[in-house]
Amino acid sequence: PSGVLVDARGRPLRDLRISITDRCNFRCSYCMPKEVFDSNYHYLPHSALLSFEEITRLASRFVAHGVRKLRLTGGEPLLRKGMEALVEQLAALRTPEGQPLDITLTTNGSLLARKAAALKAAGLQRVTVSLDGLDDVTFRSMNDVDFPVASVLAGIDAARAAGLGPIKVNMVVKRGTNDDQIVPMARHFRGTGIVLRFIEFMDVGATNGWRMQEVMPSDQVLERLRSEFAMVPLPASQVGETAQRWGYAGADGLHDPALGEVGFISSVTHAFCGDCNRARLSMEGKLFLCLFASQGYDLRTLLRDGADDAAIDAALAAIWQGRSDRYSELRASLPADASGSAARRVEMSYIGG
Ligand code: GTP
Ligand code: 5AD
Ligand code: SF4
Ligand code: SF4
Repeated sequence: PSGVLVDARGRPLRDLRISITDRCNFRCSYCMPKEVFDSNYHYLPHSALLSFEEITRLASRFVAHGVRKLRLTGGEPLLRKGMEALVEQLAALRTPEGQPLDITLTTNGSLLARKAAALKAAGLQRVTVSLDGLDDVTFRSMNDVDFPVASVLAGIDAARAAGLGPIKVNMVVKRGTNDDQIVPMARHFRGTGIVLRFIEFMDVGATNGWRMQEVMPSDQVLERLRSEFAMVPLPASQVGETAQRWGYAGADGLHDPALGEVGFISSVTHAFCGDCNRARLSMEGKLFLCLFASQGYDLRTLLRDGADDAAIDAALAAIWQGRSDRYSELRASLPADASGSAARRVEMSYIGG
């Protein structure tokens, strides 16, 4: 049976985030700390990965059940060889009403200058680029592979020139590490049409050494911005949106669309699980119901055993209908030492942003 699936908390399935590789050429300390993701780390062999055909087949079943947005993530998705071909296959999918999907990509931008035009040609609509600061010393040390800011900015420019848009930039804010970059980043992207989003450092995965002291609450980020710019709150543009939006105001005190807006993704201080409509598919075909889950549901075996659409549909329905995850809402009430379960939590580089 088709139709929009709704979980045990009444949340529809709308957004499928597909991680296509567990590898990355950066070693951001909050995601893939070098000490853990070193030369001894075991990445998945190619045979374990879903093929592009398998991904597209699964995506089409998700679309039949309500998904309207596909996001490719990683690791770094542009590292997966030939991934433009996957974009092309996904772009050919249609909703039950015959509409194309919203297809987007989260990338660190390092390969974007080279690939933007091909991605656009393949049918990608927009991109979100991660960038944690404009100061080269700070950024090079945060990505921990000495990658320069200028190359990411060149990637963003190429994406814009290729007609990918609207472009978003994600900045993870770590207190004491890059909080001095908040205002410079805002100033840089203000008035460019690019939406900068400040993300609270999250306790995702089990290896990033998360401490509350290093979280910069969004309220404080906003306070810094308001000491420099006139800002006004904007209404949510979509149900289940991760970011709270604030616009730059003009001389009349009203939002000036030409100056643009910023977003705050505040998983730690203002959880947004209430209408979380996101499912996550790992590169090896496991379906995760929450960014903070420790277990996924294996769909690859089903596929490789030759399951027909009806069997896949039944599995998806059973899994989503049983979903009650809301980790960020529960975080505050969890015992301070929840390390038992934290130790098994899936890594962000595995399940994507
Ligand atoms: P668009 O608004 O459609 O561009 O996408 P989005 O708001 O889902 O943003 P994006 O995919 O860029 O996600 C931004 C960041 O928000 C991710 O990198 C994560 O850090 C965080 N995030 C996204 N989804 C979730 C979620 O379901 N739970 C939590 N806790 N964090 C999330
Ligand atoms: N906390 C918040 N955001 C994170 N990301 C990765 N790890 C974390 C974390 N611990 C974000 C990156 C990127 C996306 C892939 O996920 O900034 O935008
Ligand atoms: Fe790579 Fe993105 Fe993780 Fe940084 S946050 S290590 S760029 S996957
Ligand atoms: Fe969704 Fe889990 Fe994030 Fe809450 S913590 S918004 S349930 S992914």
